[in-house]
Amino acid sequence: MKKTTQLPHAGVANLSTPHIVNPPVHRASTVVFDSVAHMHAVQTQWEKDDPRFPSPTYGITDMPNQVALQNALAELEGGYRAQIYSSGLAAVTGALLAFTKAGDHVLYTDSAYGPGRRSALRLLQRFGVEIEPYDPLIGGDIRKLIRPNTTVVYCESPGSYTFEIQDVPAIAEAAHGHGATVLIDNAWATGFYFNAFAHGADVVIQPVTKYIAGHSDLLMGAVIANEKAWPRLRETTLDLGQMAGPDDLFNALRGLRTLGVRLPRHHDTAMQVTQWLQTRPEVARVLYPALPSDPGHALWKRDFTGATGLFGVELNPCSDEQVAAMLDHYELFRLGYSWGGYESLAMPAHLANIRSVRKWTGGPLVRFHVGLEDADDLIADLTTGFDRLKQAG
Ligand SMILES: Cc1ncc(COP(=O)(O)O)c(C=O)c1O
Repeated sequence: MKKTTQLPHAGVANLSTPHIVNPPVHRASTVVFDSVAHMHAVQTQWEKDDPRFPSPTYGITDMPNQVALQNALAELEGGYRAQIYSSGLAAVTGALLAFTKAGDHVLYTDSAYGPGRRSALRLLQRFGVEIEPYDPLIGGDIRKLIRPNTTVVYCESPGSYTFEIQDVPAIAEAAHGHGATVLIDNAWATGFYFNAFAHGADVVIQPVTKYIAGHSDLLMGAVIANEKAWPRLRETTLDLGQMAGPDDLFNALRGLRTLGVRLPRHHDTAMQVTQWLQTRPEVARVLYPALPSDPGHALWKRDFTGATGLFGVELNPCSDEQVAAMLDHYELFRLGYSWGGYESLAMPAHLANIRSVRKWTGGPLVRFHVGLEDADDLIADLTTGFDRLKQAG
C-alpha cells in the first residue's frame, strides 16, 4: 500500500471505538475498575504489552489517543512500535538515555539539531557517557571511530542548518558490525520520504511538532523502535514518565492524516524557490539535497523518495546588518525558530557553538522554511528582501 493511502487510515485498528473516525479525546488521569479481580486482570494484560490489546491502567500509558498516534507513527516510519514524548527534544534525550549507560561511548553526528547535541554533551556526560561528535559525511569510515565501548551511533540526515545527507546504510553496517544501536532523527523527511529502518536504523526520533502535527500549534516528540530495541525504549519511556496531553495527541493525529498531501506541496514549492534562489547574485549556495548541484544529491536520490520545505541559503559576503535588513520586513516569511508548519519561516543560523568537527567556514547562513503558500508569492517576498539587503550595504 502506498504511504498516501496508509496515512488516512493508520493507527486506529486497535481502538475500542472503531465506528468513530477520529478517536474521541480522552481527558483522563484515572481509570477505574469494577473489582479488584478486574483491576488485576487489566494490570496483567498491560504487563504483557501485547499491541493487539492496549490495556490502560492509568493515564500515563495505553490511553486511546496515545495508542492511535503511536500506532500511526510506527506505520509511517516503518518501525515496530512507538512511544510519545512531550517534545522533540525530550524524544532525543529519552532515546539516548534508553540506549546508553555509564561507561558507554556514543558517536554523535556533528550536524545534529543543536539543543539535542547540547543535551547529549551536557546531560549524558554527567552520567558518565562519553559523546564524540563525528563528521556527518564520514560514511563507512565511522568504523575507525568505533571503540569497544561504543553502544550508540546517532545520525540526522539531512543535518540541521547545513543539510548534509549521511550515508546511513554504510554507517549502520559499521555500527551493527560492532553491535551498536543506530539512532536517527528523521524530522526533515519523515517516514513519508525516508524509510530509516529499511536503511539500517534501529530507532527513529521524530519531533511530531514539525511536519507530523504540521500546524505550529503543539509540541510533541516520538521515538519509534524496531522489535529488538522496543523493550528498552518502552521501559525507559515509562521510567521517565513521558507523555503528551490528549488534546495535543488528537491534533497531532489530525495533522498526520494530511501529511501525504502537505509534503509533496512543500517539496514542489521548495524546488521552485530554491531554483530561483540559485539565480540570485546575492546567493553563494543553496543547501537543499533535492537540487542536482547539492553535494548530497546522489545519496538523497538513492535513499529518499522526496524532499520537504526546509533548506539553507549561504549568502555572498555581506554584513549582519544587511542580513537583518533582508529578514526584518518580509510579508510572508516570519522570523521564527521552528519549521514544519503550513507557514513560511526564516532565521539567521549561527553555528559557532554547535559544531566542533565540520565547522562552518562559509558566508552568512540563513535557514528558510517554505510553507503552503504559492511559490510566486514567496519569490516576490524574497525579492523584496534582496532589495533591502542591497540598500543596507
Ligand atoms: C531536527 C530537529 N530535531 C528535533 C527538534 C526538537 O523538536 P521540539 O521543538 O519538538 O523539541 C527540532 C526542533 O527544531 C529539530 O529541528
